[in-house]
Amino acid sequence: MDLVGLNAVAEQLVAPGRGILAADESTGTIKKRFDGIGVENTEENRRDYRELLFRAQEAMSYISGVILYDETLWQNAADGTPLVDVIAAAGSLPGIKVDEGVQPLPGFPDETITVGLDRLGERLAHYAARGARFAKWRAVIELSDRQPSSGAVRANAHALARYAALCQAHQIVPIVEPEILMDGDHDIARCDEVTRQVLKTVFDELFHARVALEGMVLKPNMVVSGKGAARQASIAEVAERTIAVLKATVPSAVPGIAYLSGGQSDETATAHLDAMNRLGGFPWKMTFSYGRALQAAPQKAWSGRKENVAKAQQAFAHRARMNSLASLGQWEGRLESAA
Ligand code: 13P
Repeated sequence: MDLVGLNAVAEQLVAPGRGILAADESTGTIKKRFDGIGVENTEENRRDYRELLFRAQEAMSYISGVILYDETLWQNAADGTPLVDVIAAAGSLPGIKVDEGVQPLPGFPDETITVGLDRLGERLAHYAARGARFAKWRAVIELSDRQPSSGAVRANAHALARYAALCQAHQIVPIVEPEILMDGDHDIARCDEVTRQVLKTVFDELFHARVALEGMVLKPNMVVSGKGAARQASIAEVAERTIAVLKATVPSAVPGIAYLSGGQSDETATAHLDAMNRLGGFPWKMTFSYGRALQAAPQKAWSGRKENVAKAQQAFAHRARMNSLASLGQWEGRLESAA
């Protein structure tokens, strides 16, 4: 393992003013997005849509890395250029989602474990040969009055640590993503409590697995109210609580934090990131690794039509620029209405 090289890639992913595009929807998940815009979920449509994103020059100038789904990593653009080369030509790093989704965790009703560790080493070697410089693994934690159990948190954290160690052994930077879902009517204090517990456990497992923190990126949820909560916490409260939780649990050797959007509206996800960077006072770079909050607007603008490609690329550029500003603490709400 070359830690200097891993650290350089991790630093590149969270470089000031840039962030990550999560375009790693599985075939089932992209179907849901395509259903929403009336597009048939064919391999060609998936390719055309993603090619549109990766060729959006202005938008890509704000994108440090792109997380791909397995199919996309091996796909070529319409003119035959591998999509990974299109991404690299845009000055961005190709990455790969390597987990294989969730399965029920035996003995833990309603809780899940993320799978995909078997033969992961072989797969990582193939991905690295194709140009992947970083990877992503997502653990999913659902919140209720009784959940998560400490056993399920421990099992998921352990899998994340095993994945991260394997990545580093293959000279791939692991993005470590423990996601606490926003679903539910819990208040922000409950999300705060559980996010603390989860991150504490994740870094404990990373330590025991001998993962080099300098060569990874953390992709956490923000500390927010449940979607169905009676009271939605303010932007300022989300920013303050998220920073406090991370300071209590994430070692400063980690180069950067790249948040998931998790179903927040586009502008809310941007406003939260901006508020945190305005507050400052933490040792990491803080940026975005958004899926929905970067893609909802371009998907709608595109709607599967060739004549809408330029419009979709503009919509993507706008969201990417807004989030770039937020990663610097320089976003302003009036920039949204001006566009
Ligand atoms: P969202 O920003 O839509 O949550 O997607 C990010 C991601 O990669 C989730 O695994």
